[in-house]
Amino acid sequence: MKIGILISGRGSNMVAIVDAVNSGEIADAEVAVVISDKTDAAGLDKARDRGVETVVVERRGRPREEHDAEIISELQKRSVELVCLAGYMRLLSPSFVQAFPNKIINIHPSLLPAFPGLDAQRQAFDAGVKVTGCTVHFVDELLDHGEVILQQPVAVHEGDTVETLSARILEEEHRLYVAAVKMMASKFPSS
Ligand code: GRF
Repeated sequence: MKIGILISGRGSNMVAIVDAVNSGEIADAEVAVVISDKTDAAGLDKARDRGVETVVVERRGRPREEHDAEIISELQKRSVELVCLAGYMRLLSPSFVQAFPNKIINIHPSLLPAFPGLDAQRQAFDAGVKVTGCTVHFVDELLDHGEVILQQPVAVHEGDTVETLSARILEEEHRLYVAAVKMMASKFPSS
């Protein structure tokens, strides 16, 4: 199963997936490309250090469909079969979603449908919930929406700050994303 990973920043979830593929924890899979919409995404160097090809496709003020078409073409050129969004900060256009039916997945740092959108960890913290977590889900045209694949609860501790809570969620994100990709690879191509 050929995987393409889209990032916009740090890329720690991307690294978790690449490392799990390279160590054989995720079998029968290859990360064919990491694509970023930002030239300065810190994740780009981390991908290159791991021997993964990287491509930057900037938006440059173009309409979303046009930007997405270029990304779709980079993915198709490499015969990508599963697209993983990993901190990719853009909503996909309907044509992107339709180009990879049921083959685009995303990780979000809350138990969706609670706290979609930006700063999900802060939203949960401010709401005073005792349990939040992370979700891997199929991507549709709506933000942080689409069928849930896996979820992991994370307790909010007494004395937590947004930073300590986010760090604990992030550790679980890495485990959860690897588990979800592993599941997709084991079911491939029927998943
Ligand atoms: C993660 O918290 C992810 O859930 C959210 O954006 C963040 C990306 O972090 N969608 P990283 O770039 O994977 O380190």
